[in-house]
Amino acid sequence: MAEISIDELPQAPDAEVSIRDAFQIDLDATAPAFSQRTPHVPMIDPGYRFDPATTMTILSGFADNRRVVIQGRHGTGKSTHIEQVAARLNWPLIRLNLDSHISRIDLIGKDAIVLRDGKQVTEYREGILPWAYQRPVALVFDEYDAGRPDVMFVIQRVLEAEGRLTILDQNKVLLPHRSFRLFATANTIGLGDASGLYHGTQQLNQAQLDRWNIVARLDYLSEDEEVEVVLSKVPWMATEEGRRTVVQMVRTAEQTRTGFQAGDVSTLMSPRTVIAWADNYRVFRDLDYAFATAFLNRCDEAERPIVAEYYQRATGRTIEPDVKGPWRRVE
Ligand SMILES: Nc1ncnc2c1ncn2[C@@H]1O[C@H](COP(=O)(O)OP(=O)(O)O)[C@@H](O)[C@H]1O
Ligand SMILES: [Mg+2]
Repeated sequence: MAEISIDELPQAPDAEVSIRDAFQIDLDATAPAFSQRTPHVPMIDPGYRFDPATTMTILSGFADNRRVVIQGRHGTGKSTHIEQVAARLNWPLIRLNLDSHISRIDLIGKDAIVLRDGKQVTEYREGILPWAYQRPVALVFDEYDAGRPDVMFVIQRVLEAEGRLTILDQNKVLLPHRSFRLFATANTIGLGDASGLYHGTQQLNQAQLDRWNIVARLDYLSEDEEVEVVLSKVPWMATEEGRRTVVQMVRTAEQTRTGFQAGDVSTLMSPRTVIAWADNYRVFRDLDYAFATAFLNRCDEAERPIVAEYYQRATGRTIEPDVKGPWRRVE
């Protein structure tokens, strides 16, 4: 499909996709979509497994302009779920990770000195928020519960503004584009981080949560589903033996998630880590070293023996916490 620029898109969706065909949900209904792709539309991941309830809430966000927050633990697929829905609706999407070093200035913009005809002039550089707000864009506040107070303050203003965004520094009032949408993802919600597992998360206050229409919770895929997802990414393992290995890999990941939940380890394996492990296995042809390079080596030294035990329980293989790989030097 040919791509056009985002400013050439129609004001509102001009096509419909079948929810059954696009999202594998047993429902005879359609969702509004754009007929053409633009550079900000995420790439389709054909192996993506949609969780029907989560997908329906995300679709209501797109179709009915509802503000949707998705809550769930690390690696449950919150961010990619929204992306994969957008990918199938051809809806441009921008993800803003509030966990990183995003500041208020990045969001709303700033005055910058530029050269114009050899003269220094001050010019306003638009931030990501006003840019997206005036375009058919789904803006995702990722790691919403980790946002810095100055950033949350700006977001609070957008959420409160009944259909307008005031850029105080610029004395400008902006109206949202008809197809602008807001989403957020969070590890914790409302309760702050009572568990101590998510450092750096802020307590979201009720006033702020009240501005979101829908809160959806997402959990990990079932073991069988995760095995399918991994196999879809590493088709070379789709033999009987390969599948058995993938089941053991997914079980290792499950052990780390249970351990993380119990506070025994501070890092866990997401489905992405399992896929990286399988990729490393293809490269090194050694399951243990592939595991070390995908996960074990990035664990805290004090926790590596615990992780080695999870590995042993799930795979039946023994691994040294400082595995060096299968290779030996020629003497
Ligand atoms: N349902 C799923 N189907 C396919 N892949 C998934 C699914 N859920 C998670 N993943 C994979 O797991 C990884 C982590 O997902 P991500 O969306 O970043 O999680 P989160 O935002 O919840 O931390 C990604 O590589 C994603 O492709
Ligand atoms: Mg995420």
